[in-house]
Amino acid sequence: MLVLGIETSCDETAAAVLEDGDKLRSSIVASQVALHAEYGGVVPELASRRHLETILPVVEKALRDGGVTLGDLDGIAVTQGPGLVGSLLVGLSVAKAMAYSQRLPFVGINHLEGHIFAGFLQEPRPTYPFVALLVSGGHTALYHCPEPLYYRLLGRTRDDAAGEAFDKVAKLLGLGYPGGPIIERTAREGDPKAISFPVAQFSDGAADFSFSGLKTSVSLFVQKHRPLTPRLIADISASFQATVVKMLVRRTVRAALRERTRRILVSGGVAANRPLREALQVEAEDRGFEIFIPPPALCTDNAAMIATAGHARLLAGERADLTLNASADLKLAE
Ligand code: KG4
Ligand code: ZN
Repeated sequence: MLVLGIETSCDETAAAVLEDGDKLRSSIVASQVALHAEYGGVVPELASRRHLETILPVVEKALRDGGVTLGDLDGIAVTQGPGLVGSLLVGLSVAKAMAYSQRLPFVGINHLEGHIFAGFLQEPRPTYPFVALLVSGGHTALYHCPEPLYYRLLGRTRDDAAGEAFDKVAKLLGLGYPGGPIIERTAREGDPKAISFPVAQFSDGAADFSFSGLKTSVSLFVQKHRPLTPRLIADISASFQATVVKMLVRRTVRAALRERTRRILVSGGVAANRPLREALQVEAEDRGFEIFIPPPALCTDNAAMIATAGHARLLAGERADLTLNASADLKLAE
């Protein structure tokens, strides 16, 4: 089965062709980072306009690189939400038009489910049940995944997403946008133990996350130590990153133990972070967990993950009709 995936939920215009659920024929991602960088974050109006200009060339390239024509496809999967509604509508409209004109089945995919399915694009493939940690710029949550296409929310952030915290701290330090990769690079020159920032705890023991207190601590530290030297910027980056990693790893391990599963899948943009990946591997070896993390290019937004989730849903007989609408705050599970 050949599935075309389309993703336009935020600031990446992406299309991919997937064969039989796990053979990636092509994956094209056109990033808008340069467009939004001068504003220090994604400007929704600019994002949707850029998607409009880019979507058809990106889809055509995905088909060409995948060695297929529209007529070869068996189905289309497109991100329905959550995301920026104007951006989502671009991908959705193209998917609907293609499905209608080619008489192809199509499905709307939850972007978060897409991130989880990215874990199935490499060997070894995860087996159910597992706990999934989803860490991106818009979301930070833990899910229990008992079987394909079922999700139970175990915990989520009570304020900022982890990626958002990276982006805000990078801005505070004057490092630019997007913050994750820049903080990771800057942190290599710094000491992760130089400054002790607080890890949020909840008295009710919930598997929730919180990053706003950490962000405030960094902000207060920065105000107190101005002007910052490059050495101090590196130490702040390394200490902040170590604190985020500690919180993510702790909560995830605790959730897996509570759910009595030894399998953990981690995905989303922040899962591209090398220190987080290494900390999870150490934990895995110490405690006998199996950890599944997609390669960095499949952790950040892409359409291969949407096609993978789409393959599973099409195979399960799911079909959308032309009334399918974008949903900015689509939930994966309550
Ligand atoms: O999944 P994603 O591409 O888009 C959303 O669905 O949000 O995630 C983007 C987020 C951004 O906040 C970015 O700063 C963060 O992922 N990110 C990273 C790294 N690469 C991207 N955070 C930490 N370390 C990285 N290497
Ligand atoms: Zn994402």
